[in-house]
Amino acid sequence: MILLSIETSCDETAVSIIKRVRGKHIRFETLSHKVLSQVDLHAQYGGVFPALAKREHAKALTQLIAEALREAELLIERTHTHHIPHSERKKLETLLVREPEMLTAMKVLFEGIQKPAIDAIAVTMGPGLEPALWVGINGAIALHTVWDIPLYPINHMEGHIVASVLSHKEGTYEIPQLTFPACALLISGGHTEIVRISKWRSYKVIGKTKDDAVGEAFDKVARLLDLPYPGGPEISRLAEHARNEGLVVDEDLRLPRPMIHSGDLHFSLSGLKTAVLTRVNKRKPLDEKTKKMIALEFENAVTDVLVAKVKQAMYETRAHSLIVGGGVSANTHIRFALKELADSENFTLFIPDRALSTDNGLMIASTGLLHIACEEKPKVKLIANGSWSIEDC
Ligand code: KG4
Ligand code: ZN
Repeated sequence: MILLSIETSCDETAVSIIKRVRGKHIRFETLSHKVLSQVDLHAQYGGVFPALAKREHAKALTQLIAEALREAELLIERTHTHHIPHSERKKLETLLVREPEMLTAMKVLFEGIQKPAIDAIAVTMGPGLEPALWVGINGAIALHTVWDIPLYPINHMEGHIVASVLSHKEGTYEIPQLTFPACALLISGGHTEIVRISKWRSYKVIGKTKDDAVGEAFDKVARLLDLPYPGGPEISRLAEHARNEGLVVDEDLRLPRPMIHSGDLHFSLSGLKTAVLTRVNKRKPLDEKTKKMIALEFENAVTDVLVAKVKQAMYETRAHSLIVGGGVSANTHIRFALKELADSENFTLFIPDRALSTDNGLMIASTGLLHIACEEKPKVKLIANGSWSIEDC
C-alpha cells in the first residue's frame, strides 16, 4: 500500500509519499516528504493572505507532486507523448477552469509520465483557508480523474493528532496502540481545542477558545512588539532570553490568566492581547528589556492557562494519554510545562518532533493510512470546508 498526501490548508504546500510495512501494526516508511513554505512571502505582509496563499499553492503543487514521485522512485517518464483521453481532458479543464497555470502543469504531468504505483491519495479537506484548501483538493481530484486512484479527505486537526503520536523506529514510523480514552490539546494558528478521543476516529471537542487561537494570540502580541510574522517563535526566543537572564517582570507589566478559574475547559485569549496593548501603549517606545519582559509574561500566562485546563480535562475524562498537536506545540516552554504536568500527574505525553509540529504532508499521509486501517471508504465528492470540526470527520 503506497499513499500520496497533499496538504494546502494554510501557508505550506506539502506532499508526502509513504509505504505501509506489512504486519498488524500501522507502520510505514517515508518515500518522500516535501514541504514548501510560503512563510517568507506572507511575512512581508504580517500574516497569511488567503488569495496569495492560494496562488502560491497553485503555482507549486504540480511540480511538488512530480518531485515527490521522483524522490520516491515512482516517476516513470513516457518515451512517447501520451494524449489524455478526450473525456478526462474535458473533466480536467472544467475542474481547473479558474487555475489555468495549474491546468497546463497538470496536463504536462499526465502527458509526460506513466501512472505511478500509488494506491490511495489523502488530501486535507479542512479546516483552513478555503481558497487554499481548494487547490489541494482540485489537485487530488485531477490525479483521481486521470489515474483513477481512490481519494481520502482528511481533517487537518486529526492530522495534527496522528502526527503527534507517531513513534520513530528503525527508519519507519508507527501509529502506536493507545490506551483510550485519550485527550488531545490542539494549539495552532487557527485552533485551540481540547478533544476527548474515545477511540480512533471518534472525537469530541470538550473545550475550545471563544475568540483567538493560541497561535493567533502569539502572532498578534508579536505584532504589538514589532516582531516579524510568524510571531510564535519570536516571542518564544525573547522569553527564553528573559528567563536565562533571570529578568523579573515589572509589576505594571503583569498579565491576567484569562478563564483559569472558569470551571470549564474553554479559553478566551483576545483579552490577553488587549491587556498587552494597554501595557505597550503605557510604556511606548519599548526598549529591548521591556519587550523581553512582556514576551516572558505573555508566554507564562498562556502556559499557566493551558496547563490548568489540561489538568482539569485529564481529570474529568480519566484519560491516560495527552496528545499535543499544532504549530504552537513547538514552543519550548509549553512543552516543558506539559512534560512536568505529565510527570506529576502520571500520564503519557505525546508531543510531536518539532519537524512534525508545523504543517506537513506526513501528518495527512499517516492519517490517511489510519483511515484505511479503520476500513474507511474512499470518497468521491470532496468539498473544502474551512471550519470542518474534528467531530464530523
Ligand atoms: O499548525 P500550524 O503550523 O498552522 C496552523 O494550522 O495554524 O501553526 C502555526 C502557528 C502560528 O501561529 C505560529 O506563530 C505558532 O504556530 N508557532 C509557535 C511556535 N512555533 C510556531 N507559537 C509559539 N511558540 C513557538 N515556538
Ligand atoms: Zn496546522
